[in-house]
Amino acid sequence: MRVFRSIPLLVALFHLPAFAHEGMWLPTLLKSIEGDLQSAGLKLSAEDIYSINRSSLKDAIVLFGGGCTAEVIGRDGLILTNHHCGFSAITDHSTVENDRLKNGFWAANKGEELRNPGLSATFIIRMEDVSDRILPQLDPAMSEAARRDVVASLSEPIVKEATEGTHYRAVVRPFNYGNSYYLIVSETFRDVRLVGAPPSAIGKFGGDTDNWMWPRHNADMSLFRIYAGPDNKPADPSDANVPFSPRHVLPMSLEGPVEGEYAMIFGFPGNTQRYLTSYAVSYVLEKADPMRVEMRTASLEVIDAAMRSSDRTRLQYADKQAGISNAWKKWIGEMRGLKELNTLARKREQEQAFLARATSAGRSDLLTVLPELEKAYAEYIPYATARDLFVEMAYYGPEVLRFADGFQGLVLEHAQLSAQGKLQAERDQRLAAADAYFQNYDVEVDKRVFKALMPIYRKHVPAALAPAFLKELDTRYKGNVNAWVDALYAKSAFTDAARLKKAFAKPKASSYAKLAKDPLFQVSRSIFTNFLQEVRPQHTVLSERIEGAMRRYVKGQMDLEPGRTFWPDANSTLRLSYGKVEGSSPRDGVAYKPFTTLDGVMEKYIPGDVEFDVPQRLIDLYRAKDYGRYGVNGTLPVCFTSSLHTTGGNSGSPVLNGRGELIGLNFDRSWESTMSDIQFDPEKCRNICVDVRYILFLIDKYAGATHLLDEMILAPAPAPMPLIELPLHR
Ligand code: ARG
Ligand code: ASP
Repeated sequence: MRVFRSIPLLVALFHLPAFAHEGMWLPTLLKSIEGDLQSAGLKLSAEDIYSINRSSLKDAIVLFGGGCTAEVIGRDGLILTNHHCGFSAITDHSTVENDRLKNGFWAANKGEELRNPGLSATFIIRMEDVSDRILPQLDPAMSEAARRDVVASLSEPIVKEATEGTHYRAVVRPFNYGNSYYLIVSETFRDVRLVGAPPSAIGKFGGDTDNWMWPRHNADMSLFRIYAGPDNKPADPSDANVPFSPRHVLPMSLEGPVEGEYAMIFGFPGNTQRYLTSYAVSYVLEKADPMRVEMRTASLEVIDAAMRSSDRTRLQYADKQAGISNAWKKWIGEMRGLKELNTLARKREQEQAFLARATSAGRSDLLTVLPELEKAYAEYIPYATARDLFVEMAYYGPEVLRFADGFQGLVLEHAQLSAQGKLQAERDQRLAAADAYFQNYDVEVDKRVFKALMPIYRKHVPAALAPAFLKELDTRYKGNVNAWVDALYAKSAFTDAARLKKAFAKPKASSYAKLAKDPLFQVSRSIFTNFLQEVRPQHTVLSERIEGAMRRYVKGQMDLEPGRTFWPDANSTLRLSYGKVEGSSPRDGVAYKPFTTLDGVMEKYIPGDVEFDVPQRLIDLYRAKDYGRYGVNGTLPVCFTSSLHTTGGNSGSPVLNGRGELIGLNFDRSWESTMSDIQFDPEKCRNICVDVRYILFLIDKYAGATHLLDEMILAPAPAPMPLIELPLHR
């Protein structure tokens, strides 16, 4: 792709030392920054990291499920990822009688490893810049929809060529707002089994209190194994499958992370927005984040209080609470970080500078793009607001809204379903799902969440896009939210398991007609149809207009600033970031050291606490200082920070030293880093990792799963470790 090839990256990097750590690099472009990587401390070549001709580090990097990273650390296809990435697999294998989440789980042998239907592990076989086969066929005047069609038809033969006669999959994906296109060829394994996980009191030690924070003291790790058919190729889950024989295994560094030394992370970061305009940053900072935080603060207040008051509610809401609070806490950090960095003012300055450069370069074609974006955002913001509010209400608010929506087909289309002979099956399936739903549902909590959110929702929802149910609230209840919500819940069949069963007991048309008039069913319909009909279509049109203008704006910057380093925003494709093992001084008077130890775990220990309890066995090992070869200076390393640019999706990614050995497992960022999706700051931004020695200690000393060590490569410090060559199975 021309844009990237024409950029003198090396020169740019040397001229802009402040940005030395920013960026998530495409593996195919590493050759162009090889010199810089090596002067930063990399002992390998770019080809050792990414090669299409022989095994390389990329052959150990796995896209785990939909949104996490994992890496190969054992010769029999053993992979390592986060505890929070394996969380749903671990909970799926847990019951009250056999609570593997709470107690931890370690398969004693391969026969005990546990299957996980639907879980997949994907390797990248190769990536290739195919911009030259796409861009010349695209007319800048095309609509976004027409452009999408042309790209799709041009991609078809490219994908076919790449996969013909193989079991690989391929896609052509846009990068950098469609300024370039890459072919990505991958191999997906479908039999991935659970091998081990520490007790949640170790894997999630510190819970939400410690989430997004440094200093940190948890081993956010779990182990899985990839199984393949006897030919070592992907196969459906089956007893006939055998452990996958990998193309590369990451050595585990017994030396661990060393302060000040080179570090890099290789994984699948999900989404960054490095090139946003001031109009967009202003929306995020001044509208979207405050509004969403306000909504979630209100619902968390209700949920946290309920969880504190009863053990039953605590267990019922633990997962939901974690889902709501993770982004809530991140947004609070993001707002603070953007303010501290003055991002909005900086963006405005950059936009002025862009106009000045375009003018002096005689690029009058670029003078209209920012005004266009400003206008598009002015139109877009009400739709974005309505959409964000819809997501908060329907997906993170009172659960009954989405629950009732699940019955929509059954209630409204019962006649068609009946004619097709599908009514009974659909009804049974819905009611079975309802049983599971009510297990973790507390109607009083839900009602209080609804009451707490409504005033905030009302305050922010743009009048022209407000759903119809608000009118009813005003006319029949004179705007009295509490009375209205009480009435809705009291009469609805969807807030009570017994009432719901009764309502569906007789499969008569009149019962369905009655359900269609159920007050909460109608509110749910109102909020969903409002979104689908009034909000989404125009939101899509405007997002596409913005996308097209952003394409020109970013390309314009590249043309006008040939000396500047550009990297395409993260988009869940394989990327490498580099920096070093280091602490930070995120604000005046605060200095973070880069390492934590088991002593810190014991400092935080609160016996019997949901978040800060410590398993007895770990306490015993601590008291005996029985750390084996993993201890250092009388203690055990637990977590560390490094200055690597990461984002959501990097969870579970390996952090490697200059020799390509695993020194840590990435799982989070510090609170002062969470604005890095929009603006990275090399002084403040740190990713948080589990120290490799804590991982090995837990497997070896804590769990006694020494058979797992036998398939690993333990790299003694500090002799250089050559990349091992394993047979290629293509
Ligand atoms: N903050 C981490 C990341 O965004 C998730 C950590 C999961 N742990 C937790 N206590 N919620 O995904
Ligand atoms: N915890 C995040 C993840 O799950 C990582 C991050 O946002 O830094 O991917």
